[in-house]
Amino acid sequence: MENKRYGHFDDQHREYVITDPRTPWPWINYLGNEDFFSLISNTAGGYSFYKDAKFRRITRYRYNNVPMDNGGRYFYVKDGDTVWNPGWKPMKTPLDFYECRHGMGYTRITGRKNGVEASVLFFVPLKTWAEVQKLTLTNQSEEVKTLKLFSFEEWCLWNAATDMENFQRNFSTGEVEIEGSTIYHKTEYRERRNHYAFYHVNTEIQGFDTDRETFVGLYNEFSNPDAVMEGRPRNSHAHGWSPIASHYIEVTLQPGESKDYVFLLGYVENPQEEKFVAPQVINKQRAHAIIEKLDTTEKVDMAFAQLQDYWDRLLDIYNVRTGNDKLDRMVNIWNQYQCMVTFNFSRSASFFESGVGRGMGFRDSNQDLVGFVHQIPPRARERIIDIASTQFPDGGCYHQYQPLTKRGNNDIGGGFNDDPCWLIFGTVAYIKETGDFSILDEMVPFDNQPGSEVTLFEHLKVSMNHVINNLGPHLLPLIGRADWNDCLNLNCFSWDPNESFQTTENKSEGTKAESLMIAGLFVVTGKEYVALCQKLSENSGKSGLYSKEAERMQAAIDAMIAAVKKDGWDGEWYLRAYDYFGRKIGSNECEEAKIFIESQGWCTMAEIGAEEGMVGKALDSCKKYLECEHGMVLNNPAFTKYVYEYGEISSYPEGYKENAGIFCHNNPWVIIGECIAGRGNDAWSHYAKILPSYVEEKYQTLHKVEPYVNCQMVAGKDAAKPGEGKNSWLTGTAAWMWLTVSQYILGIKPQYDGLQIDPCLPETAKDYTIQRRFRDAEYTITIHPNGSQKGVKQVVVDGQPIEGNTIPYSAGKHTVEVTM
Ligand code: BGC
Repeated sequence: MENKRYGHFDDQHREYVITDPRTPWPWINYLGNEDFFSLISNTAGGYSFYKDAKFRRITRYRYNNVPMDNGGRYFYVKDGDTVWNPGWKPMKTPLDFYECRHGMGYTRITGRKNGVEASVLFFVPLKTWAEVQKLTLTNQSEEVKTLKLFSFEEWCLWNAATDMENFQRNFSTGEVEIEGSTIYHKTEYRERRNHYAFYHVNTEIQGFDTDRETFVGLYNEFSNPDAVMEGRPRNSHAHGWSPIASHYIEVTLQPGESKDYVFLLGYVENPQEEKFVAPQVINKQRAHAIIEKLDTTEKVDMAFAQLQDYWDRLLDIYNVRTGNDKLDRMVNIWNQYQCMVTFNFSRSASFFESGVGRGMGFRDSNQDLVGFVHQIPPRARERIIDIASTQFPDGGCYHQYQPLTKRGNNDIGGGFNDDPCWLIFGTVAYIKETGDFSILDEMVPFDNQPGSEVTLFEHLKVSMNHVINNLGPHLLPLIGRADWNDCLNLNCFSWDPNESFQTTENKSEGTKAESLMIAGLFVVTGKEYVALCQKLSENSGKSGLYSKEAERMQAAIDAMIAAVKKDGWDGEWYLRAYDYFGRKIGSNECEEAKIFIESQGWCTMAEIGAEEGMVGKALDSCKKYLECEHGMVLNNPAFTKYVYEYGEISSYPEGYKENAGIFCHNNPWVIIGECIAGRGNDAWSHYAKILPSYVEEKYQTLHKVEPYVNCQMVAGKDAAKPGEGKNSWLTGTAAWMWLTVSQYILGIKPQYDGLQIDPCLPETAKDYTIQRRFRDAEYTITIHPNGSQKGVKQVVVDGQPIEGNTIPYSAGKHTVEVTM
């Protein structure tokens, strides 16, 4: 397949520049940092919401649409008989110039047609419940231009799920108010909603529309709306049906002249007592206040500068110079940016996650925060408490919670037995980054029940206990509904296409289904837990208590290691699981799927059987059986038929998703395993295969999805189109890629007492320098690999050689030289 290019990186501006609107799939960006969020594609498609993509959807989006990515924030420019959009869609009028720049929290889309340029900067200012759309119109021609400008947004009736299904009600509830240049959307405000949205422009308008059918015309489309094509707004007032917001502005531009318009899409909540100013008339005070903050170009430019500043500071925390642009841009810009996005949205809202299906995952969010904790630790802290609050007293937990209510739910199933361990993973990462042990003393409820509070430390303890209390016949962890691999449903047995594998039967009676992935995860997080207990006993003097706990857990870890060595090893690799009946999964004895990646990753990270050579053999087997041109597949050989004892995994065609797809999320587990084993060449070659900037260079067309971020899954070697990506943006891959490169490859690891330096590099690595802000210190660390893959010979801090390879933490600026 020919590799057509649709864009390129602009590292200096931290942007990806798309130069052809016909990307193989919408290439999107995220706007907003907290509370108010938008998704925006390279043609300005997408939608906005407040906190929760399901319960507070502000604008409407259509999934499964033809053509795809229809609907968004559109500006129509009518210049004589020519109508065009700066983002090409929906008119698709050929443009003289098109460019979309996706940056850190903003997107700028520019189009030019017949001597007129329209450039729109989209962003959500810090601490603001609104999306700014700053449109600049410039007359680049020699003649006076008289233009007709129409804006367009379509309101969602708040609940994105019922908005798509409950039409018998929806078509009668829509309500709007129009005041000057502001259109207010107030559907359901008359009853239980205390919130409304608005769409404003900072100029006088010559007309408007708020009823979709009137604006578009019954048999028309977004690509030929009546009002626009005729250049005549209808001043329609929506009553029910589908309310929209469209401003109409007449613009005259002298040759060379340029005009700015600030459009604002905002969201407001009112206290119950202040909802109305007159019967049926909403209180607009808070909307006015937002508008007032952003009603001039100067104010908007200032807000934009603040946003850029904010990103400058965030991305300054960890910054590397290796001389390899492809690596540096991922580490310094895009990987960290994607970590922020996954932290914000977990798996809820992308162009593959509808925002109505999934909320914040227990395991997902714990992993996401590991990629984010260095950026804004207080937000990670809050997240840990939120997550732990949805846990049950026995350590089990809801698999997800809703961001708006922070309450757990079983909408996508429960009883995943790996879930509890991830709380340790997340919490330990937070403490190591911040040194803030006080989080462990926070009182945190179970299942959000007031009165049930115990310390967060107690939550960690019940998490570990949950594994210990749920062991199977081989003394390995029972898998529950599934482990990390949601699709390995060993207690499910479904022949009914009308039931979901995730929520249907989970036969726990009599099950022998055990997971080697959880076994490895337990050993890795267990070691962390033991180290934490030891640290606490040093810190608190309550040494008796914590050191006993450390001993208790160490015994459990030792037992687990012994169980894996005894019943979890297949000769060349670790088994994956035992099924309900106690039969091996992921064994040479199996007909298909003889080897799986997850247990290789976790058991090598746990170094189980390293002395006996198991780790090295397992890593070699990954190379031999799982690796292909685009990364490592999840299992091999792929399932060619449905195995009902295994559940959803074998429901996928070969090479896709959990059936031998390249699940990018778990490649880093093996890569970290390689790093721990000191095999830097192998680690790097696996890493580079799924590093977006390397893929970008080779496969933009084939890869299909955004080349600046990782996607969850790339079609594996058994698929029809190996290398094709899917499910971009919201994936644990972001955090794991970050952990891999920042801590294991480049080798800067936060520890309780300081920064440990332990890189694992390819032999070809050159000297590199990392700027790392860590608590109140700032380190400039230069590493001299000298052709070595692993092993630090000497660390010199501010001119003084130190013992070992951990720089003891002390505030202030430090220069560090590391020789390998
Ligand atoms: C989910 C993860 C899960 C993975 C593998 C992802 O879609 O978000 O929680 O571990 O799939 O099944």
